[in-house]
Amino acid sequence: MNTKNNKIAAIPAEVPQQVAAHNAGDISLHASKLSLALEGKNILRNISFSLPAQGINILIGPSGAGKSTLLRCLNLLHTDWCGELRIMGHHARCWPEGEDGLRRTIGLIAQKPTLFPCSIQQNIVFGLSRTERNHMPENRIEKVLKQAALWDEVKNRLHDQAATLSVGQQQRLCIARALMLSPKMLLLDEPTASLDPRSRQFIEASLLELAQNMPVLCVTHDIEQAKRLGGQIIFMCEGRLIESGDSKSFFKHPNRIESREFLQWSVCDCS
Ligand SMILES: Nc1ncnc2c1ncn2[C@@H]1O[C@H](COP(=O)(O)OP(=O)(O)OP(=O)(O)O)[C@@H](O)[C@H]1O
Ligand SMILES: [Mg+2]
Repeated sequence: MNTKNNKIAAIPAEVPQQVAAHNAGDISLHASKLSLALEGKNILRNISFSLPAQGINILIGPSGAGKSTLLRCLNLLHTDWCGELRIMGHHARCWPEGEDGLRRTIGLIAQKPTLFPCSIQQNIVFGLSRTERNHMPENRIEKVLKQAALWDEVKNRLHDQAATLSVGQQQRLCIARALMLSPKMLLLDEPTASLDPRSRQFIEASLLELAQNMPVLCVTHDIEQAKRLGGQIIFMCEGRLIESGDSKSFFKHPNRIESREFLQWSVCDCS
């Protein structure tokens, strides 16, 4: 993993001056005071952070903290947020190729696997244009399935219906489908929640490898996994970013009482 980028911490709203400490070229995503209300309820409140151009970033927090909602905002699945979101130097809402183009560039692997009612292979190439499919290298499907730790289990049944896969296999198929589009950033929402330890280990290794060339933002409830993956930790509770920083220091010396409570009891009383 890129140790240089591990030193770059997310930027809490209260210390905006830290933005200046980043080399602008190193930041691939910068969210400033992102807020979102859904059905009259404030779900995200003034969230500010940056993701460096490479490396792992782990988003943790209690259930209902707003982690999935935040990922959906970054991918423009929610668009009615306030604040500023700059991705690779562009305002997200003014992405040169439009919202669909932004979603190709920023792969989002959702918490619940969503597959199309077609074969495993058709699911993998679903987002590609006809031209892209025709010019795809012969081993491309094998490559992404290996990155998603699924190749061995599906290599002899690529034409079976995707719905015949187990939930853990479906989750990995969604990862393969996202990788097929050669994203420049990956957002993953509990990608290993339904996996056995061996598959989880393969996915973690893949994420670490992918993070050498792009920012990877991964939601997890598995604190041990967060420690293994390292990088930057972003801790959220009740729609707020409570604390962020380098993984080792966060787990060794969390600054905020809410973070300490969460690490000790998996709960957080930040109201
Ligand atoms: N469309 C919606 N309308 C109203 N409230 C919503 C909507 N979507 C999410 N919420 C609420 O927003 C809050 C945050 O939800 P979110 O799914 O982002 O949490 P989370 O941190 O991902 O939780 P978990 O760890 O359980 O996945 C929750 O209280 C949820 O009920
Ligand atoms: Mg969630």
